[in-house]
Amino acid sequence: MGTADVRLGDRRGRGQQQVERRTIGAAALEVGAVGLGCMPMSWAYSGSRQRGDESLRAVHRALDLGSTLLDTADMYGPFTNELLVGRALKERREDAFVSTKVGLLVGEQHIVANGRPGYVKRACDASLRRLQTDVIDLYQLHREDPEVPVEETWGAMAELVQAGKVRALGLCAMGARGGRRSGARLHDATIRQLQRVQQVFPVSAVEAELSVWSPEALETLLPWCDARGIGFLAGMPLGNGFLTGTLTPGEGFEPDDVRARHPRFTAEMMAANQPIVVGLRRIARRHGEDVTPAQVALAWVLAQGRHVIPVPGAKRERWVTDNAAAAALPLTAEDLAEVAELPPAQGSWE
Ligand SMILES: NC(=O)c1ccc[n+]([C@@H]2O[C@H](COP(=O)([O-])OP(=O)(O)OC[C@H]3O[C@@H](n4cnc5c(N)ncnc54)[C@H](OP(=O)(O)O)[C@@H]3O)[C@@H](O)[C@H]2O)c1
Repeated sequence: MGTADVRLGDRRGRGQQQVERRTIGAAALEVGAVGLGCMPMSWAYSGSRQRGDESLRAVHRALDLGSTLLDTADMYGPFTNELLVGRALKERREDAFVSTKVGLLVGEQHIVANGRPGYVKRACDASLRRLQTDVIDLYQLHREDPEVPVEETWGAMAELVQAGKVRALGLCAMGARGGRRSGARLHDATIRQLQRVQQVFPVSAVEAELSVWSPEALETLLPWCDARGIGFLAGMPLGNGFLTGTLTPGEGFEPDDVRARHPRFTAEMMAANQPIVVGLRRIARRHGEDVTPAQVALAWVLAQGRHVIPVPGAKRERWVTDNAAAAALPLTAEDLAEVAELPPAQGSWE
């Protein structure tokens, strides 16, 4: 099941086969089961490989296939990622579900949180302008500001829903690894934060890391979301590209690429973690000659619950097409058991 053979659900819109839809959150938001992480188009990965037109084609391809959820943030770029997504939304707003984030500001050499209510409202207006739309489908708090009670920030975001500028609110917990107290489980603080904001306005979605090599969210966070029908956007579902099996240990990364400083991406750790890719490839082969490890990695994320939406980052049409096809890859109980037996990843932030 590669780029040519996309075996997917019903047909909609532009005559293309579409990924299955999933419903998330109290607001019953309907999105394609596989989303598109737009971040690598303008941020975090090799700057020299970022090409606007190629990325724009990738966004259109995602929308053609029903990968409706476009995940961006004002700080990606900064700002350029929203501008790019806005070029697609201008032409086909009705085909897309746009998720963007607020609360982080990029400085010269640092990133700071800003959760002041006045700032949040101004930032939303600026995001709407860049995205060339009059409503954001999911507005996520990127990080809590330690100087501002999270209820105040969330209250300002709730007012944006009441003003019709935003349809639903989400909380991004992608930074949980950095803020963890020693001895605490990865998402203990995230859950405390969720309990506080839920008192102010319902959370429709949580975005957190979830992948074959980073499954910690399965312990407490995903069950917490599942029990409340809250959508779970799985960030970095391909392990920053490692789980695709297309990266060569020792090849190195450009200095602006997050993987140049990531403990799992030293040549030594990439070599040590190869058995994970070998296992994914073995499962892929059982499903067909052209099924890829990336598709197995995404199908595994999809198998973790009906409210889970992987948002693989990609800036090439080919990857977007392959990733959408993962929604139709039925992993068996044997496949899932085999993933569970894969060795844990080596290379840790701790
Ligand atoms: N809020 C946060 O703090 C935060 C942090 C991290 C991520 N996120 C969100 O989560 C999304 C996903 O995370 P991510 O992009 O960092 O990591 P990821 O999805 O695990 O991996 C992305 C990498 O995989 C490559 N790739 C994608 N599909 C592929 C395929 N089928 N075959 C081979 N390679 C493939 C991409 O290559 P190309 O780039 O060459 O296409 C990219 O380098 C982001 O885009 C962002 O929306 C949020």
